[in-house]
Amino acid sequence: MRECNLGLDYSDLPQWTKIFTETEPPIYWVRLAEILSQYPKSYSVFEIGSGLGDVLALLHFLGFNKVSGIERSENLATIGKEKLFSLFNSKDIIIGEYPVQLENIDILVQVNCVYFEELSTKKEYLSQIRRFYDNANPKYYLLEVIDASFKNYSNAFPDFVRISEKDIYEIFKELNISSYLTYQYPKNTSTKRLYVISQNDL
Ligand SMILES: C[S@@+](CC[C@H](N)C(=O)[O-])C[C@H]1O[C@@H](n2cnc3c(N)ncnc32)[C@H](O)[C@@H]1O
Repeated sequence: MRECNLGLDYSDLPQWTKIFTETEPPIYWVRLAEILSQYPKSYSVFEIGSGLGDVLALLHFLGFNKVSGIERSENLATIGKEKLFSLFNSKDIIIGEYPVQLENIDILVQVNCVYFEELSTKKEYLSQIRRFYDNANPKYYLLEVIDASFKNYSNAFPDFVRISEKDIYEIFKELNISSYLTYQYPKNTSTKRLYVISQNDL
């Protein structure tokens, strides 16, 4: 996959797309692989914000074959689809804006995807997270957020998108929750936490 990524023209692509050209994959990708490898490969997986398809590629690599995702940028989705087709003979990215109607999703993945256009308060941001979960009603929701322990000024991450464990426990009161730090400031540019939110009867 890295070889494929190294062959892309990055001049018109956002800066974050280059993370998958490094010799080491990003930590969230490695952590995601550890978590996903515990689940049955027959599970269907949907990713919100698929970018260039590198998380979907990981899912194929792990042996999942009911895999799809949505990406609102037509340019990124088109490049991602071509990449997934050349590597796995599969074009799993829908061009569009989540939420869309979904059925029978076992695992919903939303990582490295902090978007808050038209939102300006933590309450709104948290209810968007809950709405995204409810729309798919998955067995497992793998959600990465900016952690509230990150206090430095950042234009990209205003205070209201910095989420604490307490916030997540409050919006998902009835569900099981565990979490892992993925990025940590100052080693990384922010601190991020990956939550595994699951239904109680699993
Ligand atoms: C930083 S990228 C990460 C891509 C991928 N998850 C990864 O880790 O490689 C986040 C992507 O989510 C897309 N996105 C954000 N909100 C979205 C939404 N509601 N529906 C579809 N795409 C969305 C953005 O266009 C962007 O390409």
